[in-house]
Amino acid sequence: MGIEFLEKSHQFHLYNDEISYVFHIMRNGQLGNLYFGKRIATNHDYTDREEHSYRPVSAYTYDHEYSFSLGDLRQEYPAYGTGDFRDPAVEIKQENGSTITNFTYQKHHIFAGKPRLDGLPATYVESNDEATTLEITLHDDVIAADMVLTYTIYADRNVIARNVRFVNHGEQPLHITKAMSLALDLPDSNYDWLQFSGAWARERQPKARHLQQGIQAVGSTRGASSHMQNPFVILKRPNTTEDLGTVIGFTFVYSGNFRIQAEVDTYDVTRLTVGIHPQNFDWKLNPGAVFQTPEALITFSHTGLNGLSQTNHALLRERLVRGKWRDRNRPVLINNWEATYFNFDEDKLVQIAKKARDRGIELFVLDDGWFSTRNGETSGLGDWWANRNRLPNGIKGLATRVKKLGMKFGLWFEPEMVNKDSELYRNHPDWIIQTPHRHPSHGRQQYVLDFSRPEVVDAIYTMMAKILAGADIDYIKWDMNRNITEVYSAAYPADQQGEIFHRYILGVYSLYERLIKRFPDILFESCASGGGRFDAGMLYYAPQAWTSDCSDAAERVKIQYGTSYGYPLSSMGAHVSITPNHQLNRSTPLKTRGDIAFFGGGFGYELDLNKLTPAEQKTVNAQIRFAKQSREIINHGTFYRLQDPFTHNIAAWMVVSPDKRHALVEVYKMLNDVNAPFRLTYLRGLDSNAQYRVTEEGGQDYGSHGGDELMNAGLITTDEQAGQVATEDIKGDFSSRLFILSAE
Ligand code: DGJ
Repeated sequence: MGIEFLEKSHQFHLYNDEISYVFHIMRNGQLGNLYFGKRIATNHDYTDREEHSYRPVSAYTYDHEYSFSLGDLRQEYPAYGTGDFRDPAVEIKQENGSTITNFTYQKHHIFAGKPRLDGLPATYVESNDEATTLEITLHDDVIAADMVLTYTIYADRNVIARNVRFVNHGEQPLHITKAMSLALDLPDSNYDWLQFSGAWARERQPKARHLQQGIQAVGSTRGASSHMQNPFVILKRPNTTEDLGTVIGFTFVYSGNFRIQAEVDTYDVTRLTVGIHPQNFDWKLNPGAVFQTPEALITFSHTGLNGLSQTNHALLRERLVRGKWRDRNRPVLINNWEATYFNFDEDKLVQIAKKARDRGIELFVLDDGWFSTRNGETSGLGDWWANRNRLPNGIKGLATRVKKLGMKFGLWFEPEMVNKDSELYRNHPDWIIQTPHRHPSHGRQQYVLDFSRPEVVDAIYTMMAKILAGADIDYIKWDMNRNITEVYSAAYPADQQGEIFHRYILGVYSLYERLIKRFPDILFESCASGGGRFDAGMLYYAPQAWTSDCSDAAERVKIQYGTSYGYPLSSMGAHVSITPNHQLNRSTPLKTRGDIAFFGGGFGYELDLNKLTPAEQKTVNAQIRFAKQSREIINHGTFYRLQDPFTHNIAAWMVVSPDKRHALVEVYKMLNDVNAPFRLTYLRGLDSNAQYRVTEEGGQDYGSHGGDELMNAGLITTDEQAGQVATEDIKGDFSSRLFILSAE
């Protein structure tokens, strides 16, 4: 692994055993892309891959010649207006109103390791031999500004991390109105674009389309990455499957407004850009100041979509998530939200906790409603002290009782929000995000605190830290239930209002960072009305996220399947809830609910176990035992999607332990089918030479089978009722089978 600079041809080649990324300093001093893909030879000049040909309507750089047109070249970090008419990566508005820039190569620096980004989430290394970094400084003489492009290539991961930094050395302020974290010009457009879209309670469903000339993009301008679109996109060759073929993934390590865009130009060149959404973005860069973009990741696989996901999973799990909980299995939890909503007191909570403890649950989480006057949605947010009517002994009193049961204790916060009916709002009405003389819209009767202001973040930190220091708290669920409207901050002048969305997210990150520093043992779970801020940025602070507010097993199969393209199982909070389900009134078997939830690293329950029948309690006992046995493989194993629930009645996935000695295979059937055909599920990732004992959760033994057999001839998953007359034993709709494989 390394980064090679060929002096003679001015060519950079980033490589490891699997991938190559090649670009060079072009004749005009800017950077042009030559290749990205499977590893090709180093110490070789690829300059002739820069193609030129005369095009009647192109604009040419050099007088009296038709050989160099930026519009026809594949560039590394393009600007608009000097021959390239495509959507640019950067746009800087200057004092005289011009947006034309010309950043040309000045110097570069190659070094072992990977620097952290100040105040921003980013992947990291634990030792310098894990990665090599290249920093290239480009300079624009007219505006006296530097642009530093940073590339890191990992040694053993097919990943290139990028970010960009701007420094104003001039005497005039500059306005950066667009600063993508990466641009990648690919030589053709024969790709399917795969995005992960949805809605509240229906997050991250894969949607594919073939790239076409023009612009296709996903993004968010809501102040959060959103339920609707996710900052993770895949480009795959049309013939690529889960197991075979070329795939490129783009992950934005950021939680605010974003845009991922592919523009296919008139010659079928594809320009991919990833970064902060330019809408409403305008960063004033004063003389001497620096602006740093967030990080964006390019992941490559020539072993299909599963290969890409596995690379992303391992990277995010091992080199993005930090702290004590990174490598640890997470406690099985019970959360009181769907059990009680706002209707609880200390005794009721302890009753729920006690029953949960008896079943083997390890962590009790108190959700919304424990503070101030919070008896419903209309009041209390912003006042982070215990409601003494519900909790006469405060959080400390409740935490002590829960701890006495031998459980860990967790607490819900929604730090970024305030209700108008709160002391915080009454004392600081100007602390909400709102535009002067305009009506502020509400969401769930709440307003967004202006986290672009350090004093606001400070006030929330002080209240939270007091609660956390005053009781023994092991876990925080950090919720965020509305998006930003009427964006404006009373603390900033007119020409900095375009900074507020980004400054807001920096404020959120800074609060996380302070809390993590002071309370390093706490396990954070992020949440935004379920999966409204499920992104790589958040994982840097909170190793797991509440995947979705939809806890119905049949919907969760889809949501977790879709989420798995980009994010590891360890990052998914997944709970068993009551039936009929509270989001769509559907009943699914308790077994299915458990089987699906096992495949989230944050496994738990969201119901009052006191209300279950004795038979259900027994099932729960067995589930909890199983969750504890299987969490190691769930959190650290290799995950394979086998069959998708979007186009099939039967979905399947599996996870294999790193040593390939164990595997879990989930086969989920949405609707029962009568007199069903014989069925096989072809497994992946096993040791071909090993013999595996195959059992089903619940005890059934299917004998011993070779890894080669299970992968090539398939695991027999024919339904037991195939060809039979229905009896009561036959599973109904929404059934699930969980196979356990152990090498003998
Ligand atoms: C939305 C979350 O997603 C739920 O799990 C719950 O915490 C509620 N907010 C509480 O208001």
